[in-house]
Amino acid sequence: MDTSRILILFTSKDGNTAQMAELVEEGAASVPDTEVRRLRTSDASIDDLYWADGVACGSPTNLGILSWEMKRWWDVVALDAWAKIDGKIGCAFSSEGGLGGGAELACQSMMTVMQNFGMLTFGVTDYVSKGYTLHYGATAARAPRDERDRESCRRLGRRLAEFVGCYVHGRRDLHPNNAAYPRFP
Ligand SMILES: Cc1cc2nc3c(=O)[nH]c(=O)nc-3n(C[C@H](O)[C@H](O)[C@H](O)COP(=O)(O)O)c2cc1C
Repeated sequence: MDTSRILILFTSKDGNTAQMAELVEEGAASVPDTEVRRLRTSDASIDDLYWADGVACGSPTNLGILSWEMKRWWDVVALDAWAKIDGKIGCAFSSEGGLGGGAELACQSMMTVMQNFGMLTFGVTDYVSKGYTLHYGATAARAPRDERDRESCRRLGRRLAEFVGCYVHGRRDLHPNNAAYPRFP
């Protein structure tokens, strides 16, 4: 069985996005045969990007978009990977200062960057509790304290590992729309 390789790449000034990253890892690691690297941009190299089949990109919401540190990582550290990583699978998560502060826009901005590199990005249709979802990535106001915030992060990581398993390694059994698959455990 081929191992699915997931990079969780994040920046975090005050630790909130870092907490989300840990939960994204929990979700990804819940899928069998998945290996995870969870790295701050300051510790991640272009080889980590080449290594990964899928990338969960996380940043605090800064002025409605991704942090400058995350933008710099893709602009400078990853630039040589442009046109060499087409088809890797990507998704995003963001911590904002308060609800409505732009975390979904920040997720979109990270997905825009990944799409520019030719990556395939996705959102999640699941509701993790009544009236609470992650259609454009996992978001939380400050730290992910509520169980629904925590489950959003886990669900994102799990879905990334499922899609990598399915589309990269041919594990059709992992597809979320496979009726035999326990989508809501
Ligand atoms: C430069 C800067 C810009 C920010 N811009 C926004 C913003 O546009 N919207 C928002 O809701 N919060 C904004 N915040 C607050 C952070 O997104 C929020 O505190 C977040 O939880 C920090 O995550 P971290 O702990 O991972 O650094 C900003 C913070 C900083 C430092």
